[in-house]
Amino acid sequence: MPRLAYVNGRYLPHGGARVHVEDRGYQFADAVYEVIALRGGRQVEPERHFGRLDRSLRELRIDWPVPRHVMRFVAETLVRRNGVRDGYVYIQVSRGVAPRDHAFPAAARPSLVMTTRRTRPFDAGVAGRGVGIVLRPDIRWKRRDLKTVGLLPNVMAKQDALDAGAFDAWLVDDAGTITEGTASNAWIVTGPGVLVTRTADADILNGVTRLGVLDLVREAGLRFEERPFTVDEAKRAREAFLTSSTNWIRPVVAIDGDPVGDGEPGPLVRRLVAAYAESFGAV
Ligand SMILES: Cc1ncc(COP(=O)(O)O)c(C=O)c1O
Repeated sequence: MPRLAYVNGRYLPHGGARVHVEDRGYQFADAVYEVIALRGGRQVEPERHFGRLDRSLRELRIDWPVPRHVMRFVAETLVRRNGVRDGYVYIQVSRGVAPRDHAFPAAARPSLVMTTRRTRPFDAGVAGRGVGIVLRPDIRWKRRDLKTVGLLPNVMAKQDALDAGAFDAWLVDDAGTITEGTASNAWIVTGPGVLVTRTADADILNGVTRLGVLDLVREAGLRFEERPFTVDEAKRAREAFLTSSTNWIRPVVAIDGDPVGDGEPGPLVRRLVAAYAESFGAV
């Protein structure tokens, strides 16, 4: 059976699934999205993802294209029909199709598209392996808390990182503090052993994995702070790591080619990878 995509009420063969050329997501990046990880065919933290989608939609004054429970049902159906066990479901809502004009269209209906993709299952071995990142200026807009499809600065920085032989880029704001990765949140462990990740305000996307790791950190009684941290602090950190739905937790062992700590995944991040794996029974 061919892989299916969902487009505005229909399950279509993925290869032929289309939206209109005047979809505002296509012309204005006037659209929001979610990427929900799948483990054993089940969505990971769906409530948090649909809650964040609700917030993105409300802030941009885009209506839900279908009621929330229907959207959840469609996502579950698509995952089941595509037989995906490990991977993710991608959900995109645009303001809809209308003759090109910056102003909100009076009568457009929001477009809903969903696709699925298989990825490798969670692997604590892979998650525990260190990666290098490079630093790049954060040239994005000032509402990074909204998960919009306007991702060109992220795309450029990610490609820059790959061209430099790194796994990702961490983005640096005008004040010299690190905001986040191109599709992940950034964390460090300071010299005295305090975990630090940036406050979830308009400067970053509040990652669902970030929230899950904060739950684990609280449960473990570890010391942590939510605040901006500087490039200098990151370079002097004992440990560093990134979190995202598709990359789980990954130790960061080099920044711009310089080792973080002793250049190996540290004890705290290894402990968090183990706790994360245990939290969904992958150990
Ligand atoms: C800019 C940005 N920050 C953080 C994240 C991590 O979010 P999550 O843990 O919900 O995947 C993402 C995910 O794509 C992202 O695009």
